[in-house]
Amino acid sequence: MTTPWNHRCAQRMQGMKGSAIRELLKLTESPDIISFGGGMPAPEVFPVDAFRAATERVLLKQGQQALQYSATEGYRPLREWIAKKMATYGIESAPENVLITSGSQQALDLLGKVLINPGDLILTEKPTYLGALQAWRAYQAEFTPVPMDQDGLQVNLLEEALTAGPKFMYILPNFHNPGGVTLSLERRRKLIEFSDRYGVPIIEDDPYGELRYEGEHLPPLVVIDSEQCRNRSGRGLEKSGYYDESKPANGNGRAYMRGNVIYLSTFSKTLAPGLRLAWVVAPVEVIERCTVAKQGMDLHTATLNQLIAHEILTGGEEGADFLKGHVRLIRDVYRERRDVMLTAMERHFTTPVKWTYPAGGLFLWVTLPEYLDAAALLKEAVERKVAYVPGSAFHPAGDGHNTLRLNFSFCNPEKINEGIKRLGEVFSEAIERHEGMSNEASFAIRQATI
Ligand SMILES: Cc1ncc(COP(=O)(O)O)c(C=O)c1O
Repeated sequence: MTTPWNHRCAQRMQGMKGSAIRELLKLTESPDIISFGGGMPAPEVFPVDAFRAATERVLLKQGQQALQYSATEGYRPLREWIAKKMATYGIESAPENVLITSGSQQALDLLGKVLINPGDLILTEKPTYLGALQAWRAYQAEFTPVPMDQDGLQVNLLEEALTAGPKFMYILPNFHNPGGVTLSLERRRKLIEFSDRYGVPIIEDDPYGELRYEGEHLPPLVVIDSEQCRNRSGRGLEKSGYYDESKPANGNGRAYMRGNVIYLSTFSKTLAPGLRLAWVVAPVEVIERCTVAKQGMDLHTATLNQLIAHEILTGGEEGADFLKGHVRLIRDVYRERRDVMLTAMERHFTTPVKWTYPAGGLFLWVTLPEYLDAAALLKEAVERKVAYVPGSAFHPAGDGHNTLRLNFSFCNPEKINEGIKRLGEVFSEAIERHEGMSNEASFAIRQATI
């Protein structure tokens, strides 16, 4: 007899669906599909040689350590490297503020496990990252989405959502996934003011911050939070209460930060997503809870991967910075692909179709006329061997039927041109069909009224 499993599933699994992205990633395995679907880096930019050389060095120098279990918090030298790297952005943290995770996706899940009770409200941007919705739905969270425009989250619409008492806000300030927009400096400051005034902390998810193709770098929310803390106290950051005075400064001379913002980033887009290596920067009490939660999940992130990443990042030598040069190369490749996509869209997309202009990252966001349904049109697109992600997947309430996300990092320029041409045909034909139907309808009405 086979066991009936469905009725044994936990309540939290009811209503949880698989991800449209994951289904689409399956499509990309077929070489004849031009996929603008997944958020995949260009495989051509993976530093394969650097990985090969670093793996060899690690196995030679630290083979036994690399293959052993290790600390849940992560490989200490990598945590130190990350704390130093964060300091270059103006994020003053100690290695004790850093937790290494198996991808940022795990960080989202850990934070869900640590922070969310069933029914808790989470304030998100609208649209927002599908992976966060998936992770937090499992903890039975509810969502209160706030719309965005070309400058990111519309902070003037925040107060109403904040008065509903969300547990935290989930914000992607740089090159939004899926929106492609960036939160302006003025809005970042206002957002932090609101966070402080309403006592609602922020999870800042920043996988794309380094992938800026034009314009000035903007300070992360976690930095603005520390600045506002200093300004409020009028006593300098050291005496502002931003650092935990109950814990002495650590070996690096850095005290433990504790602010209103938890910061997440990842090596997925700058080194390789197959590494599954990311980090959380947060007050120590959050790190400690996440560490306990992580013990129950995977004990620790793969030791071998952490040691290889550290070896690549440092080149085995003090002061070397592999990432800086590598990120420069990635930026050049993606900037070109973004420009090719934007130019092709100008050429092939008809007027009522609108899209965002990304200054960095991997995505842009397309809005079709209200009367079109991007999910229904995806079937026609796939028949023409081109794929995207329908926007409703990124809306907590499943709305946004006439929107979609396009990725521009994965396909080469030739494929981008061809794929956008095909999509342009799908959209134009759908618009023409609708206009034809409206003309017929108005003709019928005219006839009926004559
Ligand atoms: C906003 C955002 N957060 C988290 C992730 C997950 O990244 P990782 O590969 O580190 O799990 C992604 C991946 O695309 C993302 O876009």
